[in-house]
Amino acid sequence: SLAVPNVQELAWSSKDVPARYVRPELELDRVSKDESVRVPVIDMSKLVGGCDDEDELAKLHSASRDWGFFQVINHGVPDKVILKMKADIQEFFSRPLQEKMECAQLPSDIQGYGQAFVVSVEQKLDWGDMLYILAQPQDVRNMRFWPRVPSSFRATLIQYSIELEKLKGILLSSMARNLGLEPEKLLTLFEEGVQGVRMNYYPPCKQASKVIGISPHTDVVGLTLLTQVNEVQGLQIKKDGKWIPVDPVPGAFIVNVGDVIEIMSNGEYKSIEHRVVVNPEKERLSIAAFHNSNRNAVIGPLPDILSKEQKKRAPNYKSISYQEFLKLGQKATLEGKEKGL
Ligand code: SIN
Ligand code: FE2
Repeated sequence: SLAVPNVQELAWSSKDVPARYVRPELELDRVSKDESVRVPVIDMSKLVGGCDDEDELAKLHSASRDWGFFQVINHGVPDKVILKMKADIQEFFSRPLQEKMECAQLPSDIQGYGQAFVVSVEQKLDWGDMLYILAQPQDVRNMRFWPRVPSSFRATLIQYSIELEKLKGILLSSMARNLGLEPEKLLTLFEEGVQGVRMNYYPPCKQASKVIGISPHTDVVGLTLLTQVNEVQGLQIKKDGKWIPVDPVPGAFIVNVGDVIEIMSNGEYKSIEHRVVVNPEKERLSIAAFHNSNRNAVIGPLPDILSKEQKKRAPNYKSISYQEFLKLGQKATLEGKEKGL
């Protein structure tokens, strides 16, 4: 069977870390010490309500293009909503295993409580558990995977997901302007798109320098909005060949461009590789909300971008349907002229 251990339980046991979690090939000690290289911080209050601050728009543009990662402050999501979400997910992960297992993953579904997708018995494993739930739009919800404990959890997650949809909208319209598209263009492409919320729990690990919380990857979605739940850092992004830690600004969201926005922008915006390291003493929690395009959208470079400034540009990616894209599951399969464009 491909079943893997619950990492939170494993972390409690006194045994050595099993070999499948030990990852020397990842060179986890290779992290940039240069404190001056930090992801940009965007003030969202300058991009709403008719403000359209040109400097802030330019900052967002270069953050999306040169970094693919940035933080947003004054983002309009009420503190109350964020704090309640954090409290409820901390409460969920602190419950006994058997209670959490009421939301356990099923073999046929990506949702629920468990571990990242395992495809082979040789596959190396990540040091973390998660609760993954499709939260928006309403028709994708499967309440079977939604915790009943704490009793406020369901209402809290719905509130949180609604607020994030609003923030997604503001970011997408600002990005559309920056890309020279009609302001509504990306909004329309992402309207009614599926929002999946991945709540991560990384237990402390006595051999933290040998294990990884999440292996290096890019997000296959459009746009990810990430909240760090407690004070323990761990996220690193790859910039110019170096791993750079992300220091979360209190109350900010960390935003990253996913593969779909990279593809739609014909590579102007970048979906950047990132990973999560584990702390030797403290647990770490985070909440990643993934925003997908509309289920009828074509995944490919936008015609308006290819024809920008009257100069026809060559597409750097193939165009395929959303359903096909879900099956392929990565941008690499769409890349490169030589690969059949
Ligand atoms: C990720 O979802 O790739 C990062 C999550 C985290 O910061 O824990
Ligand atoms: Fe990610």
